[in-house]
Amino acid sequence: ASYDTIIRGGTVITAADRIMCDVGIRDGRVVALGESLGEARQVIDATGKLVLPGGIDAHVHIAQPSGEGIVMADDFESGTRSAALGGTTTIMPFALQEKGCSMRETLKAYHAKADGECHVDVSFHMIISDPSEQLLGQELPALVEDGYTSFKIFMTYEGLALNDRQILDVMSVARETGALVMVHAENYDAIRFMTEQLERGGRIAPKYHATSRPIAVEREATHRAISLAELVDVPVMIVHVSNREAMEQIRWAKDKGLTVLGETCTQYLVLTEKDLDGLGMEGAKYVCSPPPRDTASQDACWEGLRNGAFTIFSSDHCPFRYDDPQGKLTPKGKTSFRWVPNGIPGVGARLPILFSEGVSKGRIDLETFVAVTAANPAKTYGLYPRKGTIAVGADADIAIWDPGKRVTLTHDLIQDGADYTPYEGREIIGWPVLTMVRGRVVVEDGALIGRKGHGIHLSRARSPYAKRGFEGRAQP
Ligand code: URP
Ligand code: ZN
Ligand code: ZN
Ligand code: ZN
Repeated sequence: ASYDTIIRGGTVITAADRIMCDVGIRDGRVVALGESLGEARQVIDATGKLVLPGGIDAHVHIAQPSGEGIVMADDFESGTRSAALGGTTTIMPFALQEKGCSMRETLKAYHAKADGECHVDVSFHMIISDPSEQLLGQELPALVEDGYTSFKIFMTYEGLALNDRQILDVMSVARETGALVMVHAENYDAIRFMTEQLERGGRIAPKYHATSRPIAVEREATHRAISLAELVDVPVMIVHVSNREAMEQIRWAKDKGLTVLGETCTQYLVLTEKDLDGLGMEGAKYVCSPPPRDTASQDACWEGLRNGAFTIFSSDHCPFRYDDPQGKLTPKGKTSFRWVPNGIPGVGARLPILFSEGVSKGRIDLETFVAVTAANPAKTYGLYPRKGTIAVGADADIAIWDPGKRVTLTHDLIQDGADYTPYEGREIIGWPVLTMVRGRVVVEDGALIGRKGHGIHLSRARSPYAKRGFEGRAQP
């Protein structure tokens, strides 16, 4: 037979096209799109189904140290299993540099955790917590050259927050090396001030997590990150944007001609601050930063996905078990919301929720779905066109969707390492019924059939948004 696999009878959707055609796959790659392709060892019938590029989740946290006594709920096996079950074929987790540590050594440690464990492909971003001379001068330029072409910096969190001077230093290295900087934009001092005021007043329940970091905290930091990037003339990605005011800063910057990109996440489309106001500690299940806001903010985030204010839709999967003192039920004596680990699981739920709430309910079209979940993340982070599309020569990373399938979302279906999903009980229309990674079927009819270890690490090209050296900039 001339193909290993043919996917027959489906409608192939990319960020640009809808085509009724068969997909011919050989050696893990798409080698033909067309009618009557001929013979294959395996034929997958996709009649009545949609054949989409596998999802790329460009923002997930797996097996990251999260503070004393706290343990993240996923390792690379369980995190990538959940990804595959939800139609995602590549994840981009973070390798977190701890203070005083070498970034190169940090990456080695994360590779050691991931190698041989993954069901889908993986490519690491770096998190810079300690921008030393050594890191900025030597390590980062070499690591960017080696295909780690993006890094995240934080404007908040104890032990992670960089001051403005440090941010400028890191951004200059991105400018010189052609890396893309991702920014967590919330004002650290403002959050500490608010938190201490709330605690003094005895307001320590999980819901006050949201009160402690209102929209102004995010809007201000977003604007500051954009201004610092403008000074250095470097593109910047504002991650996990939760509301209209922060989005308007991005829109303003784009209109001004700056290369400012935005990302929003599942929680900002379907959760609100009210979810944090459950009985007892229940609200802790929804504690993440920035916090979910209100329905007007949800509307704004949908608008941003439609009009390009947001280039990327991610999960910000950051799983902690709920019923666990090493997770959301904070350790003894640490009763305030301040101690609840920030982050919620979502790598498996991301695509079904966006499909159902977005495509099935008519808020976005299929091409936009593919753009923000696969093509744009691949382009932005230097994986395109190997990833993020269905085209001759691309990896055969494919999710086959049954657009009419009705499913009640439960944690059982998602199977990550947490003990809950914040999206439990939601009615979903449209489900990924088959997930293929580089030509191999890893999920069929809701069951994992692949073996761990099929997923590989991907080194990446520089982002096409990145500028490098003095290119395009007035010579000093
Ligand atoms: O609360 C969140 N989002 N936790 C994950 C870490 C981050 O800031 O992305
Ligand atoms: Zn590796
Ligand atoms: Zn963040
Ligand atoms: Zn995150």
